[in-house]
Amino acid sequence: MTQIHTHTTLKLTKRLRRLRTSAAMRALVQETRLSPDMFVLPLFVCEGEGVRREVTSMPGVHNLSVDEAVLEVERAKGEGIGSVLLFGIPDRKDDIGSLAYDPEAPVQSAIRAIKRTLPDVLVMTDVCLCEYTDHGHCGIVIGDEIANDPSVDQLVRAAVSHAAAGADIVAPSDMMDGRVGAIRQALDERGFNQTAIMSYAAKYCSAFYGPFRDAAGSTPQFGDRKTHQMDPANVREALREVEQDIEEGADIVMVKPALPYLDVIARVKDTFGYPTAAYHVSGEYSMLKAAVRNGWLDERRAMLESLTAIRRAGADIIITYYAREAARAIG
Ligand code: PBG
Repeated sequence: MTQIHTHTTLKLTKRLRRLRTSAAMRALVQETRLSPDMFVLPLFVCEGEGVRREVTSMPGVHNLSVDEAVLEVERAKGEGIGSVLLFGIPDRKDDIGSLAYDPEAPVQSAIRAIKRTLPDVLVMTDVCLCEYTDHGHCGIVIGDEIANDPSVDQLVRAAVSHAAAGADIVAPSDMMDGRVGAIRQALDERGFNQTAIMSYAAKYCSAFYGPFRDAAGSTPQFGDRKTHQMDPANVREALREVEQDIEEGADIVMVKPALPYLDVIARVKDTFGYPTAAYHVSGEYSMLKAAVRNGWLDERRAMLESLTAIRRAGADIIITYYAREAARAIG
């Protein structure tokens, strides 16, 4: 090694490296921490028994029958995770998504089964029609339009059926106007005034939902979701969406996706100070998994860095397919 002959000592009043000198020192001044109880594990519930079918584009994520879903929730709870978010994969679809509010459909059955076995686990449900319609759209299609108000009627039916099955939180993800207020009113009228609403308030029209549509079989058969989901270029509009959902009665507001929208998370949190959730979506997960499989990224570090960044931006709640792995990594 080349010798460096220097005796220079800078006269500095501040040396920021002092607080980075050891693991204990770094832990002492760490500003952002993760804990498993802020993670929500999404689960895809399908028909049948003993089914555990891996989603090709999402390694480690499965379509689960109700019995398998209960086992998965049990394992997650053992790792410190307190909540799950259920999506349904029905066997049968139609043009109005009627299985979305069938009391015997996978989601409703899973809610009851989880609540029976693990009553302390918070059960959240995704409220949308796209997994239930044969055309794959989030609402009722009339002509070539996704008709707002008739779609809201159907979403209300789905939300009420989830509440009736015992869901703690319903989470409308459709982005129709007025759905939060309509769901709140319907829940209250039926005696479910303790069922909370987490609205997918600022949900962008994102390429990063690709693998999810693979998992849920919900790719639109024609057109796209640009007339209801938000333009990725907009942030002031996100604040208007969030404001409207809060006025209509949302208890928790969500920004989705997460990593490409950290500025939106920060603005929403700073502006409203409401419980704020961020959805680290399927594409964000699959990108990491793909790079890890190629040996290009260290999974543990990339995963924790991603989730820490989402938390640092202001998310109180992180919905992530990495929930269990992350809980184990920090536990
Ligand atoms: C249903 C819904 C979607 C996601 C959550 N709820 C798909 C979509 O809007 O196309 C995406 C979740 C993910 O990508 O992980 N509308």
